[in-house]
Amino acid sequence: MIAAAAYAAGVRSQGRSAVVLSAGGGEPGGSAAYSQSRPELADIGRLARRFMQRTVAAARAEEESVSRLLAGHLGSPAATPPVARGSWPAYDQVNVQTGLEAWLHEPGRSHQLVGLTRYRHRDFGLADLLQDGGQPWGPGVGSVATEALPAGPDGTTRACVQCGIYLTADGDGVAALLVRGPEEHGSLEGVQLEIASSPPERAPDLVDEIRALALRHNVFRGNVIAFGDEVFGHHGGALLSFAERPAVAREQVILPPDLLAGIERQVIGVARHASRLRASGQHLRRGVLLYGVPGTGKTHTIRYLLGQLPATTVVLLSGGALGMIGEACSVARALQPAVVVVEDVDLIAEERDHHLGENPLLFELLNEMDGLAADSDVTFLLSTNRADLLEQALAARPGRVDHAAELPVPDADARARLIRLYQGNLVLELSDLDAVIERTAGVTASFIRELLRRAALEAAEASDDGRGGAQSAEPLRVADAHMATALDQLLDTRGALTRVLLGGVEPARRRRGGGEEDF
Ligand SMILES: Nc1ncnc2c1ncn2[C@@H]1O[C@H](COP(=O)(O)OP(=O)(O)OP(=O)(O)O)[C@@H](O)[C@H]1O
Ligand SMILES: [Mg+2]
Repeated sequence: MIAAAAYAAGVRSQGRSAVVLSAGGGEPGGSAAYSQSRPELADIGRLARRFMQRTVAAARAEEESVSRLLAGHLGSPAATPPVARGSWPAYDQVNVQTGLEAWLHEPGRSHQLVGLTRYRHRDFGLADLLQDGGQPWGPGVGSVATEALPAGPDGTTRACVQCGIYLTADGDGVAALLVRGPEEHGSLEGVQLEIASSPPERAPDLVDEIRALALRHNVFRGNVIAFGDEVFGHHGGALLSFAERPAVAREQVILPPDLLAGIERQVIGVARHASRLRASGQHLRRGVLLYGVPGTGKTHTIRYLLGQLPATTVVLLSGGALGMIGEACSVARALQPAVVVVEDVDLIAEERDHHLGENPLLFELLNEMDGLAADSDVTFLLSTNRADLLEQALAARPGRVDHAAELPVPDADARARLIRLYQGNLVLELSDLDAVIERTAGVTASFIRELLRRAALEAAEASDDGRGGAQSAEPLRVADAHMATALDQLLDTRGALTRVLLGGVEPARRRRGGGEEDF
C-alpha cells in the first residue's frame, strides 16, 4: 500500500516513481539517482505499467477489495476524491469504447484494465467502490466482461467493456475510470463513465477529453446505419446496425427527367455546394418528401441518392424504429453532413395513441426537423404512399419539407425505358413492343420489372427440353407468346392481390410490418 501511495505521488511529480520502483517499493523520497537523470516519458509509462500489473495481480491473488486497489492506485488520500461522470445513450457504447481507447493510447499514458465480478443488476458507482469496506457482497476484482458490438460495415466489431476499471498513469497524474455498459433489465440504460483522479481536479477534464475523442473517432461517421426492429431489445434499448451504401446508377432510375433533377438539386446539389451556401448565409437543412403509390420507386430513388453522397452519414429509420427519431436526429446533428431517411412516414401519422388530435411521433419528427440549426448540413428524406395523411400536419407547420415530389406511374416512354432496363440479357423477340407498352398503361415500375421476370420464366420453361437445356448459359429468348402469358397472369383479375402488391392500377396500401425495404 505504501508503495502504491508513493507511486501515485511519484507520478504526479514526473519521476519520483522511478525512484520508488527502482528501490523495490521502498520509501518514497528524494534520490541521488533521480536527480542525476530525469526519466523519459516512455520510461515512466513502462514502469507504471509494470507496477500496475503487480498491484492488480496481487489484488486478484489476495481477493483484495476493489476499494483497496483503487486507494492504492490513487494514492490513499485522506478523503475519497470527487468523481466526475459522463453518460451516453446505449447505441453510443461502441463510440465511447473507441474514444476511451484513443485516449488510453495517447503517448506517455499507460493503463491496466481490471474487470469486476458481481456487477450485474447492481446499482453502484465509482464513489461506492472507493468507500473503504464497501458492500460485503459488492463487486470484486475479476475478469473483464466485454461485448462485441458492430463498429463498421462488413461485420467489423469492437470489444466493448461491459464493466471494468481502467487504472491509468501519465505525466499529469493517475486516474481510475469505471466504465459500465447498458444492462438488459438493469438499472443502467446507457453507458456510464466515472473518473476519479489524482490530482482530483483533473477528473472532469478527462471526461471531456474522452467525450471529444468519442465524437472525433465516432464509427458511425460517413457510414450508413440503421435503427431497426431486429436490433431492438438487446439492452432494453435500440442499437444500431451498419448497412451497405447502396449503389444504384442514375440510368437505373426511370423518372421524368425534370422530377429527378429537382430531387437531385435539393439533396445532392445543396450537399455539393454546402460551404459556399453556408458562407452566403443560406440554410442547408432540407426536407424532401417523395410520395406516390407503392412500386413507383421511392425507396429506389432514395437508394440512388445515398450512393451519390459517399462521405455522408446516413441514418435509416423504418418500421418499428420510427420511435427513435430523436436519437436518429441527434446522431445526424453530431455527424454532419448527414441524411436521415424516414421511410413510410405515414405510419407515424397513422399512430392512434395520440392525445388531443396531436400525433406525438409526427410532432416530434417535425419538431426535430425544425429544431436543427438552419445551417446544419442535414437532409431529411421522407417517403410515403399516403401523402394525404401528412398533408394537414405539414401544411400546419411549413418550412420542414421544402421539396415534395410525386413519383408518378410511368408513362409510355418511361415504360419502354423500364422494359429495356429490366430486360437484362434477355433477347426480346417481340413483334409488337408497342402493344406491350399499351397494355401496361397505369402499372408501376416494379410491375414492369416483375413482368420481364415472368416472361423470362415462361421462356425458360418453354425451352426446357428435359435434356439439360434448363442449365444452359444461353440468354433466354422471350417471344410474343411468353410475354402475352406473363401479361395475362399479372393483369388477370384473379391475380388482383399480386397486382396490388406490385403497384398495379389501383393504389394499394401497405400496412405496418408489410415487408422490410432491402437497403
Ligand atoms: N422509377 C423506377 N425506375 C426504375 N426501377 C424502379 C422504379 N421504381 C421502382 N423500380 C423497381 O421496383 C422496385 C420496387 O420499387 P420501390 O421499392 O422503390 O417502390 P416504393 O415506391 O418505395 O414502394 P413502397 O411504397 O411500397 O415503399 C425497385 O427496387 C426497382 O427495382
Ligand atoms: Mg419504399
